[in-house]
Amino acid sequence: MIYNTLAHYYDALVKDEEASREWVSWIESELAPCDCLELACGSGEITEMLAQKGYTMTALDLSEEMVKQAKSKNLEGSIEFLCQDMRHLNNLGSYS
Ligand SMILES: C[S@@+](CC[C@H](N)C(=O)[O-])C[C@H]1O[C@@H](n2cnc3c(N)ncnc32)[C@H](O)[C@@H]1O
Repeated sequence: MIYNTLAHYYDALVKDEEASREWVSWIESELAPCDCLELACGSGEITEMLAQKGYTMTALDLSEEMVKQAKSKNLEGSIEFLCQDMRHLNNLGSYS
């Protein structure tokens, strides 16, 4: 999977803090902090921002290396990360 290679350069190539902040503001405007499932979390930029805003995050991505990058940002270990295909979600609970 290409994202396993890209993972090491992903933030350097495409990280856009302003865009991530705008996504987070929009999510906050639509959804109060809750149990939240993020699909295809990539390197976890938005995941980490939402966790810091009080959302209880479960985040998944198909790429093991992207999940590793995302995990490395969550120093307090508050986020549950899964390496999983978002087309198969039967094993997961309910989210808002
Ligand atoms: C363009 S990145 C976006 C990452 C993140 N959402 C962001 O905004 O930075 C796309 C991500 O989708 C993941 N992905 C692609 N197909 C997937 C699938 N079937 N299930 C879960 N993740 C998938 C890739 O591994 C990659 O990390």
